Amino acid sequence: MSILVTGGAGYIGSHTCVELLNSGYEVVVVDNLCNSNEESLKRVRKITGKEVKFYKIDLLDKSALTEIFHKENIDSVIHFAGLKAVGESVSKPLEYYYNNITGTLILCDVMRQFGVKDIVFSSSATVYGNPATVPIKENFPLSVTNPYGRTKLMLEEIFRDIYNGDHNWNIIMLRYFNPIGAHESGLIGEDPNGIPNNLVPFITQVASGKLNELGIYGNDYDTPDGSGVRDYIHVVDLALGHVKAIERLHNKHGIFVYNLGTGIGYSVLDMVNAFSKVCEKEIPYVIKPRRPGDIATCYADASLAKKELGWSAQRSLKEMCVDAWRWQKNNPNGYQNQ
Ligand code: NAD
Ligand code: WQD
Repeated sequence: MSILVTGGAGYIGSHTCVELLNSGYEVVVVDNLCNSNEESLKRVRKITGKEVKFYKIDLLDKSALTEIFHKENIDSVIHFAGLKAVGESVSKPLEYYYNNITGTLILCDVMRQFGVKDIVFSSSATVYGNPATVPIKENFPLSVTNPYGRTKLMLEEIFRDIYNGDHNWNIIMLRYFNPIGAHESGLIGEDPNGIPNNLVPFITQVASGKLNELGIYGNDYDTPDGSGVRDYIHVVDLALGHVKAIERLHNKHGIFVYNLGTGIGYSVLDMVNAFSKVCEKEIPYVIKPRRPGDIATCYADASLAKKELGWSAQRSLKEMCVDAWRWQKNNPNGYQNQ
């Protein structure tokens, strides 16, 4: 039974390939490497001792994708491939809509041609906008403030229409909170281009001396210490959630949506302190103005995933920091120069 993993060379995709292989699935990856490096898949092979097939193709290339469905015996799809930088999506909306939406439409069309109708889709907690209360449940109202988020919300709606038109589709949409950390081997992890936009890669690069100091975007939010609160989840826990989602697709038919988070909120200052303890260094920081579009607090109610997928996050904040730091120390330049 082969699982097609789109975007499988990327951060979450590579960790999911490891857990799928460890669970006995065969894995076929398609990725155009626009935000990743094939080295990640070599390391997936090293970690698991198993083969993962890789095709360097763009989802927008329908004939290349069709070819892969001809060649491989694809049973289900996990669809990670997409552009994900919120700020960049504001300046490049066309690129984001074209890549994320058209890419997904082409994928679904090819799947339909081959009678493959089981898919797990990477959505995001960003679809909750600025929630009225926390913890956030799956049935909360949805709203978005940037083109990236809009691609996720539109795709969720498109998937609902696909299911309504043909109940043979089985669809699970996973709304991730804030994935951080790396595989405990230190071989795979997050490899951002240039200066990181996200908090934890920024902190690890300050700790390693690559960057001078962290800017904390606001200390006047209505939170216990004034800095923003998020639900950080270990990427390996997130990856394991996908294995559970694949199992559920095979056993229970329909369309479902689940939050994948820990249910715990940590502030930016909590993160700085936790990381500082693990790397035994001060993390210098300055308070900066709020980042446009940021919200005060966001964390999940993850009880539905526990009840229906039999999944809950197991790894602590300390493990997230230990693993992120090991990855940074062992790979100061990410996958580059490999
Ligand atoms: P990533 O950039 O590391 O992985 C995405 C992969 O998709 C990359 O390897 C990239 O090369 C590939 N890709 C992009 N467009 C493609 C195309 N047209 N054809 C083929 N390959 C293509 O990102 P990630 O953090 O692993 O995120 C995976 C998914 O999860 C994305 O859909 C993202 O929007 C979603 N998500 C991520 C986060 C997060 O904080 N990392 C949070 C919520 C949701
Ligand atoms: C976390 C906290 C910042 C950087 C983003 C996307 C979201 C989802 C996950 C894809 C916030 C603060 C950050 C820094 C800081 N991705 N911060 N200094 O914004 O919660 O979510 O990634 O779907 O859509 O928006 O994550 O890591 O950028 O920020 O103070 O240099 O850290 O203000 O409170 P965010 P983040």
